[in-house]
Amino acid sequence: MDKLIVKGGSKLFGEVSVSGAKNAVLPIMTATLIVPGTYKIKNVPFLRDTQTMIKLLEIIGAKVESSNNVLTIDTTKCNNPHAPYELVKTMRASFYVLGPLLARFHHSKVSLPGGCAWGPRPVDFHIKALRQMKVEVTLDKGDIIADGCPFGAKIEFKKKSVGATGNVLMAASKAKGKTVIINASMEPEIVSLGYFLIKLGAKIEGLGTERITIDPIKNENNNFEFDVIPDRIEAGTFMIAVAATGGEVKLNNVESAHLDSIVQHLGELKISTKINDDEILISSSGNYKSIDMETLEYPGFPTDLQAQWMALMIKAKGSSVITENIYHDRFTHISELLRMGADIKLKNNVAHITGVNELFAAPVMCTDIRASAGLVIAALCANGETEISRIYHIDRGYENIENKFSDIGAMIKRV
Ligand code: EPZ
Repeated sequence: MDKLIVKGGSKLFGEVSVSGAKNAVLPIMTATLIVPGTYKIKNVPFLRDTQTMIKLLEIIGAKVESSNNVLTIDTTKCNNPHAPYELVKTMRASFYVLGPLLARFHHSKVSLPGGCAWGPRPVDFHIKALRQMKVEVTLDKGDIIADGCPFGAKIEFKKKSVGATGNVLMAASKAKGKTVIINASMEPEIVSLGYFLIKLGAKIEGLGTERITIDPIKNENNNFEFDVIPDRIEAGTFMIAVAATGGEVKLNNVESAHLDSIVQHLGELKISTKINDDEILISSSGNYKSIDMETLEYPGFPTDLQAQWMALMIKAKGSSVITENIYHDRFTHISELLRMGADIKLKNNVAHITGVNELFAAPVMCTDIRASAGLVIAALCANGETEISRIYHIDRGYENIENKFSDIGAMIKRV
């Protein structure tokens, strides 16, 4: 089982090229199922999750060629609208096939995703919305069985959900009649999915706002290329890492408009970020005061950077509070950070942190994609050599992470 060995103490200098966004490419890959055709997706990150999604598309009957971060997906011969438990249990995003399979086959059988490292992750919003679209949804031995042609409807989410907004957008793209989504997610990854559906032929307005209207595809366009947007979470991860270790790093291939919240929070720490089109330059002394942070839906501070931000705050000057508003209990990284000498107390989904002067290397264990990134950042700042195990988690969401970090001076290796 691979491990990462990280020797702390190096400041980071140099350039990093940010990969395509995992959370953008996964729904786009499922959207190729909606209309039989051939689609060339570019700037695809090479990740365990994209490999898992390729396997799922192939089980459904698609032909997928993958080379140099480009996928060519041929969905003309898809004939098996099923997503089996073996795959869905390893990657919740498999649930994104529900909407596309309904749009195309008016039927789908998708395993109910299990929980994840930090607790339950229900899909009740997805199911309620599809039922409002007159789809019959039943649960049979752990599988969601959905039947019927979706009808346009007015869907109001009681809480913003990226996945549910995505599934409804895709089901609505071939529904009978117009769909309106109220309290829609505004994440760039959902906007990007919407652009893909517009290329397929749907008429969509309001992407990036809380109210989206979708008129279904009339004239199908089933053969085109599409570029995946840069990964704002990977970019934010490296920005926070440089802030923590100190140094100066230029990130290339970023979409700086997606990074406002991170830039604003680092600015409060007096950490300089210079933005120039698709590049961003971060400079830090490695010494900074603490500030409070709360996670919010986009454009707020992303929950997917909460663990990384915690790794920054555990050695800040002063105390701070991190409030996780998106998930209940997304704090499995705390117990690992405590092993490295952090001072963190968790109470009612709020982490109370007292900055320490030193962190110490210790064997630690990854528990989810983003917690893993937080451990790497903490290890880069710790005295000694930290051994990080179960790094298959990190490989799900970060492409070549140890090479990207060692290219900017980190002492990190995979063993
Ligand atoms: C997406 O997950 C991302 N995954 C997550 O990133 C991200 O943390 C999350 O959005 C929030 O930004 C992908 O895009 C593949 P949600 P998703 O539905 O769609 C509750 C990563 O590390 N909820 O927006 O599953 C849910 O429990 C991953 O890249 C319901 O209660 O998230 C959570 O509290 C981790 N019922 C909140 O809503 C539902 O039916 C937001 O979840 C759906 C969601």
